[in-house]
Amino acid sequence: MSKSKNLYIKTFGCQMNVYDSERMATAMGADGYNEVSSPEEADMILLNTCHIREKAAEKVYSDLGRFKPLKAKNPDLKIGVTGCVAQAEGKEIMRRQPLVDIVVGPQAYHRLPEMVKSVDKGEKPIDTDFPEEDKFEHLPTAPKMKRAPSAFLTVQEGCDKFCAFCVVPFTRGAEVSRPVSQIVTEAADLVERGVRDITLLGQNVNAYHGTMGDGDATLPQLIRELSKIDDLKRIRFTTSHPNDMTQELIDAHGEMEKLMPYLHLPVQAGSDNVLKAMNRKHTAESYLKIIERLRVARPDLALSGDFIVGFPGETDADFEQTLDLVREVKYAQAYSFKYSTRPGTPAADKKVQVPEDVKSDRLKRLQALLSEQQKEFMGSMVGRVLPVLLERPGRLEGQLVGRSEYLHGVHATIDQAEIGDVVNLRILGADTNSLRAEFVSK
Ligand code: 5AD
Ligand code: SF4
Repeated sequence: MSKSKNLYIKTFGCQMNVYDSERMATAMGADGYNEVSSPEEADMILLNTCHIREKAAEKVYSDLGRFKPLKAKNPDLKIGVTGCVAQAEGKEIMRRQPLVDIVVGPQAYHRLPEMVKSVDKGEKPIDTDFPEEDKFEHLPTAPKMKRAPSAFLTVQEGCDKFCAFCVVPFTRGAEVSRPVSQIVTEAADLVERGVRDITLLGQNVNAYHGTMGDGDATLPQLIRELSKIDDLKRIRFTTSHPNDMTQELIDAHGEMEKLMPYLHLPVQAGSDNVLKAMNRKHTAESYLKIIERLRVARPDLALSGDFIVGFPGETDADFEQTLDLVREVKYAQAYSFKYSTRPGTPAADKKVQVPEDVKSDRLKRLQALLSEQQKEFMGSMVGRVLPVLLERPGRLEGQLVGRSEYLHGVHATIDQAEIGDVVNLRILGADTNSLRAEFVSK
């Protein structure tokens, strides 16, 4: 029997990368690699990278530099770059950092084990294809081991929207949906292994249109199918584009008990001029109308969003309209970023870039407003009894940490229930990022 080897994976970027890292670890596990938590112990290091903003992409090269001494100590150490930087930069990565042995883009992960073998033959494989075959059909399923109660599951990948700022259509390719039966099988397997809360992932998940029988299923139809899995208690999906928020999906929020009352629906900006320049193909008003309809369907729906400040040409007046929109929606949580020029995207060529200090100032103001809203939302939980999925032991003796329907971390001392249970907890207080609670009932 060959000696077992150690694999260290570092994941950057979005939840889909987290999911992909898990699938790659499983694929390499079938070839005798055990996952470890530090690069020093590793026989192979994979950096699963993100290209969304310049900072994220540059981080990869500084990390790679740090692996130099490890490779000097162990010449057999294999180093691979996977993910969106791999897709976007391909062989340029090996030119900039010769210690890299493997470069593989997100659509070719099923070929990783073969690529690793070819390194042993002295090759330096690069694969940034968008192959015809379905990688999910070729990636091995995980062994039947117990796992944490919350999981991600990719159901759709890629994007056809081409927002002017965004690399995703180039790094993840065109929109592709996985068939319903494949997703249901994977979800049932996760549930058998202890999963109770599944987040369905897609760069444009609400445009999901996977095959079911002779036709295509929509996202609400897929959710309905998944709801039939008895021990699956919670279903979420992320991330969505406003233009794919159909009435059927809006209604689903009022009809499907397992669908959580929390929606991530990025708007990016509040000014129609900026939205037009971003090629978002919706207006601030049409976004607000969708929110209104969602709140009719599900009055307790909490919203989360993404914002970009300082998109080329954004004026002070445009930015004020973003703040107005935020005041109107009242977000439970949100991510906000300074615009970052991405080579190859349509906005990269725009002449009127916003100065860095103006971007920083706008970001500060926006984040102050968003964190005020987040604090207010968390504060409104205090005194309420909420269903919480218990996920892991806490730091203190007897303490368990769970998640509310709104994704808040909740900790309480509990001996009446165990990890994987959904229990009712009374919220006693709100800290910056989590809630304190006491047990009420099972
Ligand atoms: N600059 C800054 N933020 C960006 N995002 C996407 N592309 C860029 C960019 N070029 C943000 C968007 C998106 C989130 C995932 O990242 O807000 O919704
Ligand atoms: Fe980053 Fe986008 Fe790729 Fe996710 S899909 S890793 S956010 S570039």
